[in-house]
Amino acid sequence: MILALETSCDDTCAAVITPEGAIHSNVISSQGVHDRYGGVVPEIASRHHLELIGEVVQDALNTADAKLEQLDLIAVTRGPGLVAALLVGFATAKALAAAHETPLAPVDHLHGHIAASFLAPEPFEPPFVSLVASGGHTLLAKVRDHGPGYELLGQTLDDAAGEAFDKGARLLGLGYPGGAALERLARDGDSEAFDFPTASSLKGLDFSFAGLKTALLYRIRELGEAEVARRRADLAASYQRAIVEALALRVVRALEQTGLDRLAVGGGVAANGPLRERLGRLGATIDLPSPELCTDNAAMIASAARYVPTLPYPEYLDLDVYATGERALEAAA
Ligand code: KG4
Ligand code: ZN
Repeated sequence: MILALETSCDDTCAAVITPEGAIHSNVISSQGVHDRYGGVVPEIASRHHLELIGEVVQDALNTADAKLEQLDLIAVTRGPGLVAALLVGFATAKALAAAHETPLAPVDHLHGHIAASFLAPEPFEPPFVSLVASGGHTLLAKVRDHGPGYELLGQTLDDAAGEAFDKGARLLGLGYPGGAALERLARDGDSEAFDFPTASSLKGLDFSFAGLKTALLYRIRELGEAEVARRRADLAASYQRAIVEALALRVVRALEQTGLDRLAVGGGVAANGPLRERLGRLGATIDLPSPELCTDNAAMIASAARYVPTLPYPEYLDLDVYATGERALEAAA
């Protein structure tokens, strides 16, 4: 049995899976305290992880009917993410592993999102193109095998796709995080009412959403309060269409460039209905994990742990976490 912990952002997560990838428990405790600030506050996330992690781990073990001393491996997200949040899961995992001298597997969060596709009952086998689109990251990768050495094909140059949804939602007066609410509002709107940019002139496989958000801001100013109130659904639908098209355009390019016809999608934005429908029409064989495996969770971290080098006790005790972007710096040093 493998126990995994994930605390890179604001969800406190623990899961138990078998080495074959069968999920025995997958506990996700969403903090639900950041909405009033319009975003995740790292210090607050960290404190909540500290309060929740013990119970979440216990719940995951109980549900799986597993005991700490029986575990073959403990896995944990090492980065990228909010350092103060990562530290709670990382220190907890080290302590739990050290108690019974269990080996530890440090996992890269993005490898985790990709490895959600490797879980039972229907593991999606490489090679494939992976699109990960969440509030914190947006990237395309060529996945040749199960390991962490995926090839980064493109990533966002500014906002993540989920961030674009959240910022648009905020401009339209919806709460945080606003992706799902924006999708609901858009259902009654005309997606062709407004022409928002998809950064299609940006060559290659990188994404950019900053211009889109600014375009919505200017359009809202131009229309004025009364007209915006009347056309909120049209604005939401057109804005959503621009994000979906921006993602789909790069996915098409990535499939062409790699010659692959298999696509896996992950991250919170993968819950978006119009995106799922749009990608489903590309003609590729597509893997869309269930929403709880697309958003941050620990089962995906346990899944990735099966394919990374593990560290025996006590080698992991002086290992540290890394923040967003830090791994690249470390590699260059
Ligand atoms: O993967 P996730 O749970 O956490 C991060 O690692 O960020 O993704 C959360 C993001 C948020 O930006 C949220 O607005 C977005 O996913 N999201 C959606 C939908 N559900 C969640 N965006 C569009 N449509 C949805 N239905
Ligand atoms: Zn994530």
